[in-house]
Amino acid sequence: MKTADDIVIRHAVPDDAAALIEYLNTIGGESDNLTFGKDEFPIKPEQERAFIEGLAEKPHDCMIVAVKDGRIVGDATLAGHPRRMAHRAELGISVLKAEWGRGIGSRLMEALIEYAEQHGVELLNLEARADNEKAIHLYEKFGFRTIGVSPAFMKLRGEYHDAVLMYLDLRAAAE
Ligand SMILES: CC(C)(COP(=O)(O)OP(=O)(O)OC[C@H]1O[C@@H](n2cnc3c(N)ncnc32)[C@H](O)[C@@H]1OP(=O)(O)O)[C@@H](O)C(=O)NCCC(=O)NCCS
Repeated sequence: MKTADDIVIRHAVPDDAAALIEYLNTIGGESDNLTFGKDEFPIKPEQERAFIEGLAEKPHDCMIVAVKDGRIVGDATLAGHPRRMAHRAELGISVLKAEWGRGIGSRLMEALIEYAEQHGVELLNLEARADNEKAIHLYEKFGFRTIGVSPAFMKLRGEYHDAVLMYLDLRAAAE
């Protein structure tokens, strides 16, 4: 198996905006596991730029990208919650299909969990299609546990798909 030594893992910067939109519109068409499909990410570069700039003001939000030869090939995000849920954040992750199985997803997870621990996030939550074995394996590898099933979470070409709800408790690690 090839290693991901040619991959740089770093925080997204405002100048990534256009490349990120292109990336998201591409990966939407590469699997049926995301909440959007090909070209279903209709955000303008200036909106994406403003979103990335805004991350600096929100310590529980972040976007980490995997870059290969200057091109974005993966991303992982944390989205914090307000008020009485402010101790939790939602995790999202994707990798360009051509780069699957090279450990990029694992490196993004490591970086995101480290960021969450360093910024006082106590619990991470996510939802994954119940048949997305690869993603579920990746999450379990990093300690995520399944807490339930959300029926008919997605409707795709007339078919319903359940999702598993998963969480990672970081409180023990913080002690
Ligand atoms: C899920 C995803 C992010 C994984 O990224 P990746 O770069 O391929 O991940 P890695 O190379 O680090 O491999 C992850 C693990 O999955 C395992 N794996 C690969 N194919 C698998 C399969 N069919 N079933 C179970 N596990 C599988 C790998 O062996 C590896 O585990 P290991 O480290 O114990 O060997 C990527 O496949 C993806 O973007 N999928 C489409 C979008 C998506 O599903 N996002 C998650 C939405 S919830």
